[in-house]
Amino acid sequence: MIVLIGYMGSGKSAVGEIVSKENGKVFVDLDQYIEQQEKMSIPEIFENKGEIYFRKKEYFYLKEVLETQKDIVLSVGGGTPCYGENMKLITEATPHVFYLKATIETLLERLLKEKDHRPMISHLEDSELAEFIRKHLFERNFYYLQSRHKINVDDLSAAEVAEK
Ligand code: S3P
Repeated sequence: MIVLIGYMGSGKSAVGEIVSKENGKVFVDLDQYIEQQEKMSIPEIFENKGEIYFRKKEYFYLKEVLETQKDIVLSVGGGTPCYGENMKLITEATPHVFYLKATIETLLERLLKEKDHRPMISHLEDSELAEFIRKHLFERNFYYLQSRHKINVDDLSAAEVAEK
């Protein structure tokens, strides 16, 4: 199993898709999996049920996927490694955990374009986003940096990151 972690906009889903195809493995995107199981989009879950409900489901489905699907490429949400025992579960499931690491500048450029369907940042003004990412990433790096492998993704296409 290969697990891709990293901040929103770091390219986990796009890279996971390519890595899985090139290695003949099944790709599971945890956010998509949650959406299928809950029959609601992620923004709808946040809107209708709230973040705490989402985090509970995220934990439940992460566990389910890690326990039942052993030979997959898995990308998880930006927050997944940062709650409860999630990162412990991930690192116990496989040594092949890759942190797709991007600078604040790269994340800002990407997220300004797709802020609206991301409930963690959709309420922010564009001018507030850089400061939000800076603080959030500082907190989350504590978890992300527990991964065995780190890949700097700045200036690389998804295919180039997948190759690495
Ligand atoms: C979140 C990131 C999202 C999704 C949810 C919460 C976060 O996933 O799980 O909106 O807390 O960073 P992506 O990283 O795939 O955008």
